[in-house]
Amino acid sequence: MVDSVDQLGLRGRRVLVAGAGGLGGACASAFAAAGAHVFVVDQDAQRVEAFCDELASSADVTVGGCALDLRRRDDCRSAVERARDALGGLDVCLHAVGVNDRRPVLDFDEDDWERILSINLGSAFFLGQAAGASLVPSGGGRVIFISSVAGLLGHANHGPYAASKGGLNQLVRVMAREWAPAGVTVNAVAPGYVESNLTREYLDADGHRAALEALVPFGRLGTPAEVAGPVLFLASSLAGFVTGQIVYVDGGRTLV
Ligand SMILES: NC(=O)c1ccc[n+]([C@@H]2O[C@H](COP(=O)([O-])OP(=O)(O)OC[C@H]3O[C@@H](n4cnc5c(N)ncnc54)[C@H](O)[C@@H]3O)[C@@H](O)[C@H]2O)c1
Repeated sequence: MVDSVDQLGLRGRRVLVAGAGGLGGACASAFAAAGAHVFVVDQDAQRVEAFCDELASSADVTVGGCALDLRRRDDCRSAVERARDALGGLDVCLHAVGVNDRRPVLDFDEDDWERILSINLGSAFFLGQAAGASLVPSGGGRVIFISSVAGLLGHANHGPYAASKGGLNQLVRVMAREWAPAGVTVNAVAPGYVESNLTREYLDADGHRAALEALVPFGRLGTPAEVAGPVLFLASSLAGFVTGQIVYVDGGRTLV
């Protein structure tokens, strides 16, 4: 295990993790366990504080964080600046911010649409832009987003969410193409259903969990750690020639 973690080449790398929820939190822990320095940003100040306390006590790496609302461009710039200040630079930026609201298209109003698109896609654009502004002149780095199988499949009751993830996939491809000459890779990991605050209430209700498990060839939902693995791979020295890709982490969900 130690050998494989060392082979990732993440020791001493400086990583900004935006979103300290179920998936972002698991990734931040995995980065720290691989020896990377980690700066965490989330709109929820208590979550950031608790997370920093937990990481600082369990890992021998620099850990920091702050609360920001990443819908705002200035806050995204501030996230990158503060990460660079705290860690002494930036090598990797992970965006793991998102919300969902499961309703039919006909039930959404303008404010619902604006909220989901600005959190899921607006924050991805502005954080990616701020990270790119730092990484491109430095001659290398990694930008990774968390997309979703909903960006590919036609899930009912996912209108704005699916649109945000489909848009995110295109953002990945354009950023990847623009920044490849500078050695910056841009990719996304696209999970199927994983248990987190985003999904728990829905999974616990009305037999949803069993119905969703039945759609996955593996016969079960994924775990946050199973999302963190491919994220670390994309951030690692093993993935230096991988760019513009959407990596599905879904137990085969997109095969059926
Ligand atoms: N959990 C799943 O099944 C699943 C599946 C596919 C994709 N995803 C994607 O993974 C990403 C992370 O989801 P998760 O499961 O960890 O959800 P989560 O709810 O556990 O975490 C999301 C985090 O985003 C933060 N956030 C929301 N709005 C913000 C804002 N404006 N500024 C800063 N932070 C903000 C929340 O405070 C929360 O900590 C999302 O993009 C989600 O769409 C999740």
